[in-house]
Amino acid sequence: MYPENIKQKFSEIFNQNPDIIVRAPGRINLIGEHTDYNDGFVLPAAIDKAIYFAVSKRNDKAIKLFAFDLDDSYEFSLDNLTRSDKGWANFLIGMVAEMTRNSDKLTNGFNAVFGGDVPLGAGLSSSAAVESGIGFTLNQLYGFELSGINLALTAQQAEHNFAGVKCGIMDMFASIHGKTKSVIKLDCRDLSYEYFPFNTTEYTIVLCNSGVKHNLGDSEYNKRRAECEEGISILQEAFPQVNSLRDATIPMLRAQSDKLPQVVFNRCRYVVEEINRVELACKDLLDDDFIAFGQKMYETHEGLSDLYEVSCPELDFLVEQTINNEAVAGARMMGGGFGGCTINLVKKESVHDFLAEIGKAYETKFNQKLESYKVAITNGVEEITE
Ligand code: GLA
Repeated sequence: MYPENIKQKFSEIFNQNPDIIVRAPGRINLIGEHTDYNDGFVLPAAIDKAIYFAVSKRNDKAIKLFAFDLDDSYEFSLDNLTRSDKGWANFLIGMVAEMTRNSDKLTNGFNAVFGGDVPLGAGLSSSAAVESGIGFTLNQLYGFELSGINLALTAQQAEHNFAGVKCGIMDMFASIHGKTKSVIKLDCRDLSYEYFPFNTTEYTIVLCNSGVKHNLGDSEYNKRRAECEEGISILQEAFPQVNSLRDATIPMLRAQSDKLPQVVFNRCRYVVEEINRVELACKDLLDDDFIAFGQKMYETHEGLSDLYEVSCPELDFLVEQTINNEAVAGARMMGGGFGGCTINLVKKESVHDFLAEIGKAYETKFNQKLESYKVAITNGVEEITE
């Protein structure tokens, strides 16, 4: 069981006890998809699936990593922080490189063993958990004194420069700032945030994993970003005050519709509508109105599928299956898209039946077992002391 197995492996490999044990969670996002890189709002939370780190300082410049779940190791030097052919190592090398870019705090290297139960390629941001975990660990061990926000920005840079995905800030922000029983309403324009209670005893958050790995996702993701930027520059011809899609409205889009290619119009329309939807959904939470909240999740899915075109047949099927199920308040695909999980708000007492039914339907349709997870909302990255 994590993190004991990580600690034990660490002692086995390095013949010493770790200086620190850290837990860095994956994330869900209730609503607000593809809005973070458009200066909009998101509503994520950290979850009880996490990556654990056991780390100790070294006396030389070497950095020795062991990925527990992959049973794989990698070694590099503080003096040579370049991309590796080993995909998983890049998240850690990237974080070290970005943290040392403007700081000389990291005088020596470290030994690290890490691993956890955030499923890979399921859209739960295992990579952000790895980045926030190692970032938090080095921050503690080497006294960088980076704030949570700066840690998240550093992780975003690592992802851009070392993993090649021009991601927004949501995933790492949530992994770092998560708070138990709360969702984070993050304004991605100025990174101000507030917690909203998400402490329902009526509903359980259930994730259904399509099993489709979002390989296509990285290139399509960067393409969506470019399409949004194209939309902004066309809007600016008539509305110079529009710096991002956060500043745009549907009437503005209509006014420029003869100049906007249809695909770009659709992308922008989805984003503008989704940014508004998050604000309305937060009101639903304050009213404890999960039916209205869930309805908005369905609207988000429709937009992601038809206008933003980041869904896939498996995700659409999983959402469709829930529409006439009265035990489900809302469902939608979650994260970047092209695979990964759907997020479902399911009445507590009906979770068992829900999973049996949807599992059977999925297997019949796609000849594949449906993996699912019930998740609870937890604190963000933290040191484990017991
Ligand atoms: C991925 C990215 C996030 C965000 C989502 C879509 O998870 O890493 O920054 O853009 O997709 O909402």
